[in-house]
Amino acid sequence: MKKVINLISHYNEGKDFSADFIKTLDNSISIKIGKNENQSELMHSESGAFSETIYIYLPVLESIVKNNLKPIFLSIGLGAGYIEIMIVAYLMKNLYLKNNINEFCIESFEGEARLIHFFRSYFLEKEIPLPFKNCYENILELSSNYFELDKNILKLEIKNLIMANKINFNQKFLNSTILKIPVYGIFFDAFSSNSSPELWEENLIQNILSTKNAENKCIFATYASKNILKKILKLNKFLIHKKKGFSGKRECIYAERNLI
Ligand SMILES: C[S@@+](CC[C@H](N)C(=O)[O-])C[C@H]1O[C@@H](n2cnc3c(N)ncnc32)[C@H](O)[C@@H]1O
Repeated sequence: MKKVINLISHYNEGKDFSADFIKTLDNSISIKIGKNENQSELMHSESGAFSETIYIYLPVLESIVKNNLKPIFLSIGLGAGYIEIMIVAYLMKNLYLKNNINEFCIESFEGEARLIHFFRSYFLEKEIPLPFKNCYENILELSSNYFELDKNILKLEIKNLIMANKINFNQKFLNSTILKIPVYGIFFDAFSSNSSPELWEENLIQNILSTKNAENKCIFATYASKNILKKILKLNKFLIHKKKGFSGKRECIYAERNLI
């Protein structure tokens, strides 16, 4: 039987760009992008976009704090921005952001320019299409409730970090991408290899994990469990911790390099 997808709104700029906003089972919103009559896969699990983000990616932040590492991050696949908002909320909550503000940095990559534009504009208080605005409001609401923060203070903190160039937006991550400084935490939230084959090429994954882009002490997480990823993580001396996938998925990857 075909699953019922809970479509809550739709945004359309003609055949160049459209977006379906879908309510997932924990009431958080996920997005499907349409381009030239093709539709992307849903960005998150139908079981819960917010819950999936917390389950897969929060452990990276917990390890950064536990190991007293610099809060410098690489996020591949901005999408709706769940990870970026979670990073700021979690580090605000335990004062790690305040205590390490000079070092703090997120380099966020997104192949779809409009997603960068809408996310940035929302936090800089510019007009954006209503379905995107509602989606970001919803993520802020869920994140501020989860981390027991004031939603407006969280939003203002993200605005300040964007204005101070501490959250930077970049287009596609490529084989040749070299970050300004290597990072301590990597969130690899790419689409599957069917939708974004270029992000699953051996050279590109090798580039992410090389010491030019990833610090010696480094934490990596993804919802995926592809063998190619595990192989290159091991080659780069990451220790893979066995972890069940979100909502009944067999496996996901959490890996650390040079941490006990
Ligand atoms: C699974 S979604 C990310 C969800 C997102 N992390 C969130 O919190 O909502 C994958 C994203 O990767 C983007 N993408 C595709 N190719 C890319 C590339 N080469 N570099 C960076 N992002 C890419 C897609 O446009 C899509 O928004």
